[in-house]
Amino acid sequence: MSGTEIVSTEPATGAVLWRRMAGDVDAEVTRARASWAEWAARPHAYRIETMRRFANVVRARIDAFADLIARETGKPLWEARTEVDTVINKVDISISAYSERTGQRRSEGAMGARMALRHKPHGVLAVLGPYNFPVHLPNGHIVPALLAGNAVVFKPSEKTPASAEFLVECYHAAGVPEGCVRLLIGGADEGRALAGHDGIDGLLFTGSARTGIALNRTFADKPEKILALEMGGNNPILVWDTPDLHSAAVLVVQSAFTSAGQRCTAGRRLIVDQKLAEPLLVEINKIVDRLIVGEPHADPQPFMGPVIDNDTADMLTESFLALSAMDGRPLRHLQRPVEGRPFLTPALIDMTDAKERPDVELFGPILQVIRATDFDEAIAEGNATRYGLSASLISQNPTLYDRFWANIRAGIVNWNKPTNGAASSVPFGGIGWSGNHRPSAYYAADYCAYPVVSSEADQARATIGIGLRDG
Ligand code: NAD
Ligand code: SIN
Repeated sequence: MSGTEIVSTEPATGAVLWRRMAGDVDAEVTRARASWAEWAARPHAYRIETMRRFANVVRARIDAFADLIARETGKPLWEARTEVDTVINKVDISISAYSERTGQRRSEGAMGARMALRHKPHGVLAVLGPYNFPVHLPNGHIVPALLAGNAVVFKPSEKTPASAEFLVECYHAAGVPEGCVRLLIGGADEGRALAGHDGIDGLLFTGSARTGIALNRTFADKPEKILALEMGGNNPILVWDTPDLHSAAVLVVQSAFTSAGQRCTAGRRLIVDQKLAEPLLVEINKIVDRLIVGEPHADPQPFMGPVIDNDTADMLTESFLALSAMDGRPLRHLQRPVEGRPFLTPALIDMTDAKERPDVELFGPILQVIRATDFDEAIAEGNATRYGLSASLISQNPTLYDRFWANIRAGIVNWNKPTNGAASSVPFGGIGWSGNHRPSAYYAADYCAYPVVSSEADQARATIGIGLRDG
């Protein structure tokens, strides 16, 4: 773990933003283990107040925080601000979620006993974060974990450590004990070492399916530990029987290209009634022609910034060429408008007659188009994926929505809305390769605490009514 330097570079400019040596996994876990019991023993009201202070600390630093996230990820400043807002809003949502899903209940049991349901924290939870939402998504695990009384060792993406460090400073400034939220700087090696460390009681992960599946293997012989996996998607958006093709096109563009396509819920596959395909693509092209791709602080603000780095841009370019080589028909090429930097223009490719449609998540601004002849075929096409995160139907026809809702396989199924933009006030998660049935957002409370049921009476009064010899 020692000796590796982590360097964060601004995607838009190539400037070095932050550098630091990778952390010591063992030291961070040991520190968290030593701290969690005291935090867990605090009254719940104390932890609520501390998290409310955390929201206020973030509120007071919102401009600096958004500026840093925009620099480090390349996302536009307006979007970075929405990420910080989500961090703030997560606190009240998590307080409600804790009391609704993992709070205390009392009820009457048999023979005059009282039943009590309470929840306990797991202990030390590791959190591994992705780069696309470097603070919102880890914070989505960390706030509920802390509220429930856990300590956390947070290893952010090696591509966004500065934003993560800012977040952790806010917890500490609000009064969360330093031992209860530890920042572990590092990459995949540190992630692997943390996941396999005996001193953690569970792992809350947001990232790619490839990493999530590897982590699932690590935990295969550890049933005593909790593992929550939030992974990627190969999400379909269907357009069928809709009169307003301009609005349909806007929803498709928002789904596919917001955040330069770097959202787990991004629409990756447009599946469209072949009769609507041409006019819809004309509308989509008109909008894409006007989208501004630019650096995060540009004025006017861009719709989307660069992708995270040049390696990612190269990989996406190669993937686009590979789709073309499978007889995909490029409708808009993926271009690199700024030499040496990872800006990409939104790309569309018609895969209807392709020899193959690889079921992989291309985490960037590439939308594949598939024309279908009937609605059953369109749903089957939508389900032709191992993932199952989000799906959307654009249609004026409620009967089609009923069929879509009943038959499409995903954890988020929308109607006349984009595939992305999920709210924190509801559960968030997918099936198949998108998650392991431990949804996050509102249901994060569930995996941050375990239920303890007690049958209780003030005094020990007991008799055996049946099966005793006369005494
Ligand atoms: P990633 O899987 O490459 O990395 C995620 C984290 O895991 C990072 O901290 C990384 O250092 C660490 N890591 C990498 N390999 C590891 C290993 N073998 N063992 C342990 N840790 C390891 O993901 P990314 O590229 O940073 O993020 C993009 C991915 O995240 C996309 O697939 C996207 O769909 C997904 N994502 C999912 C959600 C969701 O909530 N479902 C949200 C955002 C992003
Ligand atoms: C994401 O977490 O990557 C996307 C969330 C969303 O926009 O739905």
